[in-house]
Amino acid sequence: MVKIKKIGVFTSGGDSPGMNAAIRAVTRTAIYNGLTVIGIRHGYEGLINGYFKELKAFSVSDIIQKGGTILKTARSKEFMTYEGRKKAYENMKAEGIDALVAIGGDGTFTGARQFSEEFDVAIVGIPGTIDNDIYGTDYTIGYDTAINTVVEAIDKIRDTASSHNRMFLVEVMGRDAGFIAIRAGIACGAEAILVPEIKGQVEKLKDFLEKGFKRKKSSNIIIVSEGEESGGAFAIAKKLQNDFADYDMRVTVLGHIQRGGTPSAYDRVTASLFGYAAVQALLDDQKSIMVGLVNGKIAHCTFNKAVKMDKQIDMEKMQIAEVLSV
Ligand code: F6P
Repeated sequence: MVKIKKIGVFTSGGDSPGMNAAIRAVTRTAIYNGLTVIGIRHGYEGLINGYFKELKAFSVSDIIQKGGTILKTARSKEFMTYEGRKKAYENMKAEGIDALVAIGGDGTFTGARQFSEEFDVAIVGIPGTIDNDIYGTDYTIGYDTAINTVVEAIDKIRDTASSHNRMFLVEVMGRDAGFIAIRAGIACGAEAILVPEIKGQVEKLKDFLEKGFKRKKSSNIIIVSEGEESGGAFAIAKKLQNDFADYDMRVTVLGHIQRGGTPSAYDRVTASLFGYAAVQALLDDQKSIMVGLVNGKIAHCTFNKAVKMDKQIDMEKMQIAEVLSV
């Protein structure tokens, strides 16, 4: 067993608010325990190309409140090849890095799992994605801030929607998962929530609108997850246009504003706990695992499970949202 002396930390995939708080926590916990910390810039690309810089305790001052990631991020195509991963391993060894902390989502952990298996590298993951779609943790860093951003935007849309008696289809992010849509939908009192995990929702929406129209419901907010089966908010608007010509319809795609901004207190705290737990896990000789939060407590999940298992949406919450929108 090699005693860890030097760790590398990087962010990879889509950025999310709170990643900086995680980098800070990893760096400071490692330094507290006598380790040297190397910041790897641009995710796996940085590992392949040797974009290394030592992080001291002061290097991570004044970043806990900042969105984005000071280490930059990337979705590396080269790391998907064996040659790319070999280059990354050789660079890492040349720099004297014994273990890694990878902050990111599904793609990041898929790469980490493969890298760790092929080259016997100790890697611990920290879930960071606004999508909250990682198995093995109830929350991912950035989800809470993204929800707050969506809620703030939709509250504004609601003002103009009700002033004009309009229907708005608001598209939110989430790739193939409806976690952002469901939570934001409940928080905004949305009339309907369309998610990728449930099929045939547009037909149901038509029924709902028919009834709403008959009751003269003046305005509606329909939240559409980008991965929904019809292809998003514009596609749904097209499907509805003919049957509901009496509805004055508008589409808003919230897009990348959901990824930026000052992290919420919740994300900062979660990121800090995750950063601390990730370094502790490495010191305890753990490898190929992700730290997470389950029922409010720090938990560990193997990369294997985290990438292979699908996190399920909470159908009860969908049911509650439907009841509350009568
Ligand atoms: O995974 C985070 C996410 O923001 C998804 O919600 C979205 O589908 C995707 O990233 C967008 O990726 P990009 O910024 O590369 O366009």
